[in-house]
Amino acid sequence: MSKGRRIGRIPNYEPTPERRARYLLHWEARHLFHTVEEFPLLTPEFLFNSSAPFVLEIGCGTGELLCQRAAAEPERNFFGIDLSRRSLYYAVHHAAEAGLPNIRFLRADVLLALPRLAPASVAEALLLFPDPNLAARHHKRRVFQPALLDALHTALAPAARLLVVSDDEALFMDMLALAEADPRYCKTHAARFLEGFEPPVRTRFQRTWERQGRAIRRFELARESRE
Ligand SMILES: C[S@@+](CC[C@H](N)C(=O)[O-])C[C@H]1O[C@@H](n2cnc3c(N)ncnc32)[C@H](O)[C@@H]1O
Repeated sequence: MSKGRRIGRIPNYEPTPERRARYLLHWEARHLFHTVEEFPLLTPEFLFNSSAPFVLEIGCGTGELLCQRAAAEPERNFFGIDLSRRSLYYAVHHAAEAGLPNIRFLRADVLLALPRLAPASVAEALLLFPDPNLAARHHKRRVFQPALLDALHTALAPAARLLVVSDDEALFMDMLALAEADPRYCKTHAARFLEGFEPPVRTRFQRTWERQGRAIRRFELARESRE
């Protein structure tokens, strides 16, 4: 996370082996880097023993919103990917305490794991408050990049949407410009972008940025139907 954007320590809820087996996959970066094709495809069948596409949160952090939605929408499945062990332990703790049967998490660098997203497997994709990687030399670490749009173009089911939300104006404008330059996607709204974000629960990141008076902006993409 970029310096100056840390928002306090997350408690360390190391999961029991049972909880880990139930909720958490871990794919190490060096293995992904060298042998990505040996990892399983992230299909709804593999993750949830279901044929229905799932809701994907990229960089889900502590999974507050994803767990809330999994509880409120028991007929759907939810899958969060994040790099941070401690954040995902928190997410697993939350999911296990609530007894959620329809959520799983993957600890991995999403940029390395992208090739394992299965075609038409994602019903809805969320990218909420991604790290801006402020220094220009770190921009290549940004999650919203052409490789992500390539992978999602295949992974999104036909009517699926990608929602992008950010508190960082420069990052938001860069992401928007990238999306607008990609003819495979169209926005689902007439305005160039939308102000605010009113989810059923606000994550600790959103609460912090709003307390600091930062403007929250969002845009939503669908696959272009005239391709
Ligand atoms: C600012 S936090 C936002 C977390 C969550 N979306 C929320 O709104 O509370 C950004 C998250 O993206 C994760 N992240 C950054 N780069 C990543 C990558 N390459 N792969 C997976 N997760 C990543 C970080 O670990 C962090 O949890």
